Amino acid sequence: MKVGVFQLAPQFGEVKKNMERVEKGLQQIKEALIVLPELFNTGYQFTSGEELASLAEKIPDGPTTGRLAELAHKNLLHIVAGIAEREGEKFYNSAVLVGPDGYIDHYRKVHLFLDEKLWFAPGDKAWEIYDIGPAKIGLMICFDWIFPEVARTLVLKGAEVICHPSNLLIPFFGQRAMITRSIENMVYTITCNRTGWEERGGKERITFTGMSQVVSPRGEVFLSLKREEEGVALVGIDPMVARNKSFTPHNDLFRDRRADLYAL
Ligand code: ACM
Repeated sequence: MKVGVFQLAPQFGEVKKNMERVEKGLQQIKEALIVLPELFNTGYQFTSGEELASLAEKIPDGPTTGRLAELAHKNLLHIVAGIAEREGEKFYNSAVLVGPDGYIDHYRKVHLFLDEKLWFAPGDKAWEIYDIGPAKIGLMICFDWIFPEVARTLVLKGAEVICHPSNLLIPFFGQRAMITRSIENMVYTITCNRTGWEERGGKERITFTGMSQVVSPRGEVFLSLKREEEGVALVGIDPMVARNKSFTPHNDLFRDRRADLYAL
C-alpha cells in the first residue's frame, strides 16, 4: 500500500489557491493514501470569528470537499485533509476523508490548541475507523497527539494506520511523540505537518515545524521531510504488520492489557 504526505505552506485566506496547489501537486499521484496538513485550505492564524466565518465551509457540501473528492475519484486516491468547517453557527477544525467514490466522513478535532479555543468548537463525535480496502484507518488532528487516549482508542477500534493532519509548532514535540504513539500501539502513523510561518493582526509570529513523517508499528521513521521543505513524499507500507499485536511469544498488546486495573 502506498501512503504519503503533501507538506506545504498554505497562504492564509487563499482557499482556492491552496486547493489548486494541492490539485497540481497530486496530479501525477495515483492509487495512494495521501494526508494533507491541518487547515490546509485556510491557513491557521485567525484573528477574528468573522474571518473564520468568511473562510469556513460546509462538509461535505462545501467547495473544498467537492474538489478533494473529484481529485480522489480521478486519481483513485484516499485523501485526508484538514479544513475549517462551518455547521450552522458553529465552526470546527476538521479533517475530511474522501476516496475514489467520494466523501466518506470527517472528524472534528477534539483537543483544541491555544487560540483555536477562541474560534472553534471542540469535536463532538467519537473516533471512527474506515476500511479503505488495503487498510483500516483512523483520523486525529495535531494536538490530539498529547492525549495518548486518542491513538489508543483508534487502535482498540481497529485502526492500522492513523492519519494525522497537523500544524505543529513546538519543535519537535509532536513528531517525536508520534513515534511513541506508533510503538505503544503497534500502528502506522502518518503525520502531515505544514511548513512556513504566519504573523497576522499584530499577533506573535507562529513558525510551523514541517518534518512530516511516516512511522512504522516498530517506531521506524520510514520517511521524514525537512523543516522547510514543500512537496509530496510517498512510501510503501504493509498494513499486515500493524495487525499483529504480539511482540514476544508471551506478550500481546491487546491480550496483556489489564483494563480491569486501569479504571480510576
Ligand atoms: C496544533 O494543534 N495545531 C498545535
